[in-house]
Amino acid sequence: MSANMVALAYLVASVFFILALKGLSSPESARRGNMFGIVGMIIAVATTMTLTENWMLIIGCIAIGGVIGTLIAKRVQMTAMPELVAFMHSLVGLAAVFIAIAAINNPVSFGLPAVLPAGSKLELFLGTFIGAMTWSGSVIAFLKLSGRMSGTPIVFSGQHMLNLLLAIVMIGFGLWFFFSETTNWTAFIAMTAIAFLLGFLIIIPIGGADMPVVISMLNSYSGWAAAGIGFSLGNPMLIIAGSLVGSSGAILSYIMCKAMNRPFLSVILGGFGSDGGAVVADDGAQKTYRSGSADDAAFLMGNADSVIIIPGYGLAVARAQHAVKELAEMLHEKGVNVRFAIHPVAGRMPGHMNVLLAEAEIPYEQVLEMDEINSDFSNTDVVLVLGANDVVNPAANVQGSPIYGMPILEAHKARTVMVVKRSMGVGYAGLDNDLFYMDKTMMIFGDAKKVVESMVKAL
Ligand code: TAP
Repeated sequence: MSANMVALAYLVASVFFILALKGLSSPESARRGNMFGIVGMIIAVATTMTLTENWMLIIGCIAIGGVIGTLIAKRVQMTAMPELVAFMHSLVGLAAVFIAIAAINNPVSFGLPAVLPAGSKLELFLGTFIGAMTWSGSVIAFLKLSGRMSGTPIVFSGQHMLNLLLAIVMIGFGLWFFFSETTNWTAFIAMTAIAFLLGFLIIIPIGGADMPVVISMLNSYSGWAAAGIGFSLGNPMLIIAGSLVGSSGAILSYIMCKAMNRPFLSVILGGFGSDGGAVVADDGAQKTYRSGSADDAAFLMGNADSVIIIPGYGLAVARAQHAVKELAEMLHEKGVNVRFAIHPVAGRMPGHMNVLLAEAEIPYEQVLEMDEINSDFSNTDVVLVLGANDVVNPAANVQGSPIYGMPILEAHKARTVMVVKRSMGVGYAGLDNDLFYMDKTMMIFGDAKKVVESMVKAL
């Protein structure tokens, strides 16, 4: 394939990647977006194979990776998706490190001069340290999200100073590598080892609640690492794909921080959020709540004019999306105006609730984002909170609360509130929720799927 044809094919693949990102911005076009991504990747890989004589090796690796990937993707539960994403990012980071090692070891086979030029050294240095940090950071994120390691932040005094010191030493080794006339493996290995350590140290103080932001940030890093390596190898496809991943991950991190009302820097510095064990102490007064049955709830909803359903993480855990679709259809048949309200950080990953509701084929026009529906709560007869907690916690309006300022779905303004969850336990931010103790609120205890199925039966 001529150089021009390769450039053209890479350009076409890049356009497909951009169309894929555009498609993924809405549940309606997400499937199409995924197809564009697949086509773009096929073009990119096929084009790259024409550049090498070792294409049998590439096919062998794709076959092994493809089989493992397919098996994992088939087995993974929807709720385990964030940790799978973290695991995948760790591999991207490691790949960047391995490519850099191979390129430094044998530059000629990568089309580089035998003595690496300064520019390539800089690019390899950047790609390696970002890749190494992405690897160890993502491994910790994976362990925390999968519950193999506590989600509680691990903090110790002098932590930020230690990180700063290590970063300076790492850059020092990087400069030594950069200015050495021959390949300086000592400097390179020391720099890479410190980057691995830094990735680990930067992620351990970050608590469970902030993990999704971290995942998206690491996703962004892995993209930049790939782009850095793309510059070294003179491969425009890697530069473009890496930059797309890098910038979209950074934008997503920003959007999540905004929805959680947490400054990005405070997320990165860590120390917030737990895996849901601690309840923040309130004023000590005994609080009472009212509980009811699925039958009571079904009766109230069946006689209402308008119902808003707020899904949260518990809906995903219980896999109640199909049952809730049935419930919505039955209410609709009874003439009730049923809509779904989606908080941007409900669940554990961006778009978590949209994906679940789309899987159950709930019509998109019934699914409204927070900004679209928040003003309607005060005119709504019944709000059904299904396995959600933090995203409806009025503590977000109370100064001094750890979630003060976080935008919430204003369920507390509706005439009647019904909350389905298994206990009075806290959500991800570890905070008690005053919504559960309001006079207008009825708690319905149980697994979301079972409770909703009982409601359907009662209706
Ligand atoms: P949470 O506040 O985590 O509350 C979920 C509730 O679901 C829990 O209180 C739990 O109570 C209940 N639950 C669990 N399993 C259940 C089941 N099988 N049946 C019924 N209920 C069940 O969820 P949320 O309101 O969706 O808020 C999301 C949280 O994650 C926020 O704090 C948000 O900031 C954080 N977060 C999310 C993201 C993204 S991108 N989504 C990113 C960063 C942080 P019981 O144990 O009593 O049942």
